[in-house]
Amino acid sequence: MARRKKIYEGKAKILYEGPEPGTYVQYFKDDATAYNAEKRATIDGKGVLNNRLSEFFMTGLAGIGVPTHFIKRLNMREQLIRAVEIIPLEVIVRNFAAGSMAKRLGMDEGTPLPRPIIEFSYKDDKLGDPLVPEEYIIAFGWASQQDLDDIVALALRVNDFLSGVMHGVGIQLVDFKIEVGRVWEGDFMRLIVADEISPDSCRLWDKETGRKLDKDVFRRDLGDLADAYTEVAKRLGVMPSNVTHQTKPTLIN
Ligand code: TMP
Repeated sequence: MARRKKIYEGKAKILYEGPEPGTYVQYFKDDATAYNAEKRATIDGKGVLNNRLSEFFMTGLAGIGVPTHFIKRLNMREQLIRAVEIIPLEVIVRNFAAGSMAKRLGMDEGTPLPRPIIEFSYKDDKLGDPLVPEEYIIAFGWASQQDLDDIVALALRVNDFLSGVMHGVGIQLVDFKIEVGRVWEGDFMRLIVADEISPDSCRLWDKETGRKLDKDVFRRDLGDLADAYTEVAKRLGVMPSNVTHQTKPTLIN
């Protein structure tokens, strides 16, 4: 049997050639990295949780008419997606100050922002994904002004959807990152949500206790990352509440 072709391997996912032209299989690894991969670990069950959570969010977005790359989940760690031409930007939406914004501006984490703020980082690991102004994006041809207008509209719709879903389960959506890709439909180009939406790419705080339920648990050594992601999955009904991230086999007598 021929081995399937690996298209790309990133820090948390692998892309394989899909069964039909224009499709890829996206495989979620258990690897976690932070600070531009200076900190690394393997976290049992993370890939399985992110595969399920990304499916949940992408399916919900499709339900309100936001186009995404997601086609269907194939198994515990893999999903079938549309192949897109990735725009080399991390599109970050912030509702409350945290992380790099809080640091850059000397703000307390959790300070509400006057409105959602969108920023762009140029996707380049060697450079540490630097923040870039729109002027750079257009001048260097990474996206046009029209693309940027469409990306902002898309990002704000994702923000409203995710904020609402999270609010419903007692979680505050502090900020998140999406990636956007181009697809061609005949002569027309469309921008769609790509990559993943999961606690790896969001900041999620419990509304009552402030407990962090996202990758900051790993970045800042705040406890068990898989426990935090499992809590998000349970609240959203993505995993039955009696399932834990325990991956050891159970012996059946
Ligand atoms: P930041 O505060 O570190 O700039 O991150 C803002 C949000 O974007 C946070 O939810 C984490 C997410 N993010 C990623 O998922 N990947 C990235 O490479 C970056 C820069 C941010």
